[in-house]
Amino acid sequence: MNPKKLTGEKAADFITDGMMIGLGTGSTAYYAIKKVGEMVRNGLNVKAVPTSKETADLAAEEGIELIELSEVEKLDITIDGADEVDPDFNLIKGGGGALLREKIVAAATERLIIIVDESKLVNKLGDFLLPIEVTPFNWEYTQKMINKMGATSEIRKKGGEIFVTDNDNYILDCDFGKIENPEKLTIDLNTIPGVVENGIFANMAEIVVVGYNDGKIEV
Ligand code: 5RP
Repeated sequence: MNPKKLTGEKAADFITDGMMIGLGTGSTAYYAIKKVGEMVRNGLNVKAVPTSKETADLAAEEGIELIELSEVEKLDITIDGADEVDPDFNLIKGGGGALLREKIVAAATERLIIIVDESKLVNKLGDFLLPIEVTPFNWEYTQKMINKMGATSEIRKKGGEIFVTDNDNYILDCDFGKIENPEKLTIDLNTIPGVVENGIFANMAEIVVVGYNDGKIEV
């Protein structure tokens, strides 16, 4: 069975009636959202905050009621994917370009549940290029400042054009090598003017649900 589908559907077990939930972005979150849609059609009552326009469209198609984050005090759980997960549950996210909204939603959540297939598990973060969302204004200078911190980086492109996020920003995909101290790097990066947010999620995930290629699932 598809490990992304396995983990996505399993995570939906954490949802109970009346919850306020966050819905992640990406090909793994897709399966969780489809499952939540099925549960809603079977009578589950939830309200959801999407982490991207893509997820908002999918959730609406599935009949899931959407709300603004400003309408709630806290979200009970958020289910989201990741590009890398280390043994301490530090994450790299943003492969799909939704890291800013994902981090805002995660920070407003009691329990962040991460759903990944086994290929995302690493001993140390850093093989996956770290996505950093930057303002279009002065982005080349922001890139220089990031590179001075020890990275090489590239502006993300799609179809030959610079990729633009849901927030009208750009993304720099950055190679820092192995990241020794994710917590420090995320703080340091966010002090650079022009950096809007970076894709390190340190100490945010509470539960990681891993789907294996042989059909096994681990929570
Ligand atoms: C989007 C993300 C995704 O959660 C991450 O890229 C994983 O995606 P997928 O489940 O498609 O592998 O952070 O910004």
